[in-house]
Amino acid sequence: MIRAIKGTRDILPPASAVWNEVEQAARRVFGGFNYQEIRTPIFEETALFARGVGEETDIVSKEMYTFEDRDGSSLTLRPENTASVIRAFIEHRMDQIPGLKKLFYIGPMFRRERPQKGRYRQFSQIGAEAIGSDFPGVDAEVIEMVAALLDACGVKGSRLLINSVGDPESRARYVAKLKEDLAPHIEALSPDSQRRATTNPLRVLDSKAEQDQPIVEKLPSIHDFLTDACRDHFAAVRRYLDDRGIAYEVTPRLVRGLDYYTHTTFEFLHGALGAQNAICGGGRYNGLAESLGSKVAAPGIGFSIGEDRLVMAVEEARGGIAASALRLFIAPMSDEAFRKGAVLAGAVRAAGASVEVGPPAKLKRLMELANKAGAAYTLLIGEDELAKGQYVLKTMSSGDQSHVNESELVERLRA
Ligand code: HAM
Repeated sequence: MIRAIKGTRDILPPASAVWNEVEQAARRVFGGFNYQEIRTPIFEETALFARGVGEETDIVSKEMYTFEDRDGSSLTLRPENTASVIRAFIEHRMDQIPGLKKLFYIGPMFRRERPQKGRYRQFSQIGAEAIGSDFPGVDAEVIEMVAALLDACGVKGSRLLINSVGDPESRARYVAKLKEDLAPHIEALSPDSQRRATTNPLRVLDSKAEQDQPIVEKLPSIHDFLTDACRDHFAAVRRYLDDRGIAYEVTPRLVRGLDYYTHTTFEFLHGALGAQNAICGGGRYNGLAESLGSKVAAPGIGFSIGEDRLVMAVEEARGGIAASALRLFIAPMSDEAFRKGAVLAGAVRAAGASVEVGPPAKLKRLMELANKAGAAYTLLIGEDELAKGQYVLKTMSSGDQSHVNESELVERLRA
């Protein structure tokens, strides 16, 4: 038997309805903030991610699905979408459109991680990017938009962590200091951190390895290395969050796993998710466009919500997945009744309700089918009903029955 590939999943009904709901909520909430949708390809030149996300990151160095095309070029299934959005921004000269560019996306990403609950090799992100401003008010609005979406989805009790990783100048000084401070402890670090201590020492900060903790705890905070301008930017972001009544925890070790970040970084954590508890990650990336070949500066900030994790949180908040939304089951007791039923179904569907037409069968069998389908109402069509044009409409929850003609039926079931 052929099975789905490890780390990939089929999203089956009724869970798929929850996916549609969160996507609709995202479109509604993002629309309210004047964001428009962008759809970029699922594969890109490998160099885009190597340069955008960073050669030394886990994503690029060990998690990408990279393959050689028939013409020898190296292609990669997108592990994230910010680099692609900026590529499209540059390619289509979107810098020439006046004002802030506010774009959102929903779609699959691919990372070859070790699969576990909430972590997949194909997963979906709902993300947004605001490009063309370094005003800290944009940072606060982007964060507010995530909070608004979580709220719209009924997800409560998430924690917002924020940090500033400064500009390249402050970070270079911090990285140099980290290398210096880590050097005497190399032997005591976990294998991953030993490697990172030289290649990407910022990543040592969010090591989860037990043996690294005593060393990591003594490392200096990036906040001691921020320039005045970086500090001012971060203070303004916090002030604008305060204005919005959004609670946050300043977390100096929140450096995030992608190299393009400058200034603000943030994450939303959610308790119901277990080990993979980051429901959203984001931050500012002021130099990314230039590093991808843009001649003009295009400072930006954005986020990606892990849709798989958002759906889990929604299901948890609801205590399970809602049952079928079927409104009407039509129960025809003969072939002639089935043909009439199909016509009636068309009229009820046109009024916005969902309808299932059963096969011609005996009453007992039809009622079994109606119960299994979870319909709110069942319409019985027998010989008498056909002759009079009056059908029996049964409310399944109470068992109440009434006689309705076609137009009464449509009115009763209008969504
Ligand atoms: P990221 O932190 O790598 O950031 O991913 C964002 C979110 O995607 C995570 O918080 C998580 O919810 C979800 N996610 C990541 N990997 C997996 C996985 N293997 N399985 C399930 N969910 C996963 C980014 O991707 C940046 N592009 C965010 C951003 C946008 N920064 C600026 N703009």
